[in-house]
Amino acid sequence: MALIIDTRTEPDRALAAACETLGEGLPVAIPTETVYGLAADATNPDAISRIYEMKGRPRFNPLICHVADFAMAEAHVAFDPLSRKLAEAFWPGPLTLILPIKPDSSVHPLASAGLDTLGIRMPDGFSREVIKRFGSPLAAPSANTSGKISPTSAAHVEADLGDKLALILDAGAAEIGLESTIVKVEGDEIRLLRPGGLDVADIEALAGRRVARPDTAGAAIEAPGMLASHYAPGAAVRLNATDVKAGEALIRFGGKPLPGEENAVVVLDLSPSENLREAAANLFAFMKRADASGAQTIAFGVIPNEGLGEAILDRIERAAAPRE
Ligand code: TXA
Ligand code: MG
Repeated sequence: MALIIDTRTEPDRALAAACETLGEGLPVAIPTETVYGLAADATNPDAISRIYEMKGRPRFNPLICHVADFAMAEAHVAFDPLSRKLAEAFWPGPLTLILPIKPDSSVHPLASAGLDTLGIRMPDGFSREVIKRFGSPLAAPSANTSGKISPTSAAHVEADLGDKLALILDAGAAEIGLESTIVKVEGDEIRLLRPGGLDVADIEALAGRRVARPDTAGAAIEAPGMLASHYAPGAAVRLNATDVKAGEALIRFGGKPLPGEENAVVVLDLSPSENLREAAANLFAFMKRADASGAQTIAFGVIPNEGLGEAILDRIERAAAPRE
């Protein structure tokens, strides 16, 4: 069983234990501001294989490398001016940049799945302290079994991977609750590979240009982790519900009751006050609660496709996609 250390009450012990475990080539579950990550030494191929093993993740799927500061980033990737501007504005934070790997980077090719680019970000919160102390980048996907809902609490990680892990750091509920926004700069163009916890409108405001949305086919090749069915709860998922059928779990938005919801197994509201940030932070925990309610189907009410709503809808649509 995994040892769980609370970073708010025992930060020094948490740091020491994390660095020792990472140094042994073992993955550690760490809190980032987006979701909990399953982190391992990005320069150690055995450690990286253990991430893939624990997640049951297809090996062709590259991992994001997490750095503590710009010096660490610069040791591994080459910034173009626009990517640097984005990083300076939004790091530490929920933005991943896809950048060319430097030839002398010590990040192992297993982390990048052999690509000549690296997904890289500087996370906020306690995970950044861990990286700083450990002194080299950590490869970290979300700390969940491949295809399942990402964890936004230490308890989520424990329930899914507690038997396989040595150590989980607990910093409470993830502040943002959605994985990072992933973009790739190509010449003058910024391309969105995955909507996420950083609002694309904020990127557009800073860069003074539109961010190009992916066509779905291209995205599948560009970010191989973006499999259609992802974030899958056990229950079936119904989108844009305007009423509720008996025995369904309802996850709605905006505080307005839906016809029939008195017969729902459970009713959860992502944000009664229509705040998309609050909705993002609640999404994965509510999906898990709805799933645990025993309902055969989770019905989602209508969620506005603006701001963080884009990333929320992306995750819900993946949860609803046909499974293998
Ligand atoms: O917020 C996050 O991004 C979380 C926390 C733990 O940092 N991490 C996360 O990692 O969501 P993961 O592994 O679940 O998703 C990484 C995504 C995948 O879709 C992968 O294909 C894409 O990033 N990716 C990684 N490296 C890439 C690269 N070189 N080129 C294109 N896509 C890449
Ligand atoms: Mg994931």
